[in-house]
Amino acid sequence: MTVTLVPAPLTLSAPPAPHRPDPLAVLGVPGEINLDHAASAPCARAAADAVAELLPWYASVHRGAGALSRRCTLAYERARQTVADFLGARPGDHVIFTRNTTDAVNLLARALPAGTTVVTFAGEHHANLLPWPRGSVRLPVPASPAEAVRALDAALRELRRVGPRSGGGASELPVLVAVTGASNMTGERWPVAELARAARRHDARILVDAAQLAPHAPVDLAALDVDYLALSGHKLYAPFGVGVLVGRGDWLDAAPPYLAGGGATSHVGAATHDVRWATGPARHEAGTPNLLGAVALAAVCAALGEADRDALHAREQALLTRLRNGLAALPHVVELRIFGPDAPRVGIVSFVVAGRDSAEVAAQLASTHRIGVRDGLFCAHPLARRLLVEAAARSGRRDLPPTALRASLGLGTTAAEVDALVSALAQPG
Ligand SMILES: Cc1ncc(COP(=O)(O)O)c(C=O)c1O
Repeated sequence: MTVTLVPAPLTLSAPPAPHRPDPLAVLGVPGEINLDHAASAPCARAAADAVAELLPWYASVHRGAGALSRRCTLAYERARQTVADFLGARPGDHVIFTRNTTDAVNLLARALPAGTTVVTFAGEHHANLLPWPRGSVRLPVPASPAEAVRALDAALRELRRVGPRSGGGASELPVLVAVTGASNMTGERWPVAELARAARRHDARILVDAAQLAPHAPVDLAALDVDYLALSGHKLYAPFGVGVLVGRGDWLDAAPPYLAGGGATSHVGAATHDVRWATGPARHEAGTPNLLGAVALAAVCAALGEADRDALHAREQALLTRLRNGLAALPHVVELRIFGPDAPRVGIVSFVVAGRDSAEVAAQLASTHRIGVRDGLFCAHPLARRLLVEAAARSGRRDLPPTALRASLGLGTTAAEVDALVSALAQPG
């Protein structure tokens, strides 16, 4: 039988676009209001679909000659490239898959050249305070973004003048500045590009902890001129236990491997010391990697890369304003903040309910209203304590609790959910 193909007649109107589900829609459970994105964001459809597509092929990575294994190896390395592109990695930068931001910062801490001084601010998450070596410099929490830049500039000038230890001469030793992109307590954004310029002026390198910034705003190593960047997949809608350290390859290639084991070597001889370690990401990724995590994260990065980030930003800022205005109208609620009330911020708000224990409020929000928020000191104890003291002074109230509440917004958050939180808090406890 012969089939004659008849060309379709030309029409002026475009054919209906095939329905494509929104890759940035998030999965969730109807009726459960999740306002705790800063802890872990829900799974984006892009991540779930990428994992579902790969699962039938699931096999070893970098360890097998079979078709399944080769496909998985390719998927893993493509994921690395996608993440590199999304984060503006430069030639010579390494993209190392880790478990999360904490793991990424610890990796860099172990890779510092001898004698490196690390400079941080006291407002950091513990993940960007505790891994650094003794002798690191911890600057006080600044009152404004401009003060952060001034304080860093002055500290770096002093370090270069006298060296890391008192009595030393002028120092040529490496210096690493480690700052957050956005506070996990207040969502306030740190002036990353200006801090990077200050670091450059004094020949220092800079790491940005983008765990809270990347889910809300584009972050680009080259554009910001930062040396290293760390983030967590589970905060970026890819909840499969993956994180990333991206940045300059030289320190990473010169450092001992973060984990010693299979995959991190190019040669292992009979003698115990006869080991040649690989260079590049493999050096620090010993053991079988988290393929699904990497692929899920890359899928979200690709979807975000194609999304209208300005529109997402505008939507989130509208919700944030709605939330902050709603909270400000409640006389017994006090917001916590580092900088001024109008400082740029991502969709995270911390607050206290005067006269009420924060854990009890969080539990009641969950049990009575099915609203999930976070309570405590948010793994940023020095900052949280300071902001609680400041909130008491600003509000003039003596009945503020010793821990706080945090509501954080994300891609799936709606105005109705924000209103539900505000009206739940308006009810007497
Ligand atoms: C700013 C910041 N840095 C680092 C971390 C640590 O992230 P992870 O627990 O994924 O390692 C967090 C987690 O909340 C964070 O908010």
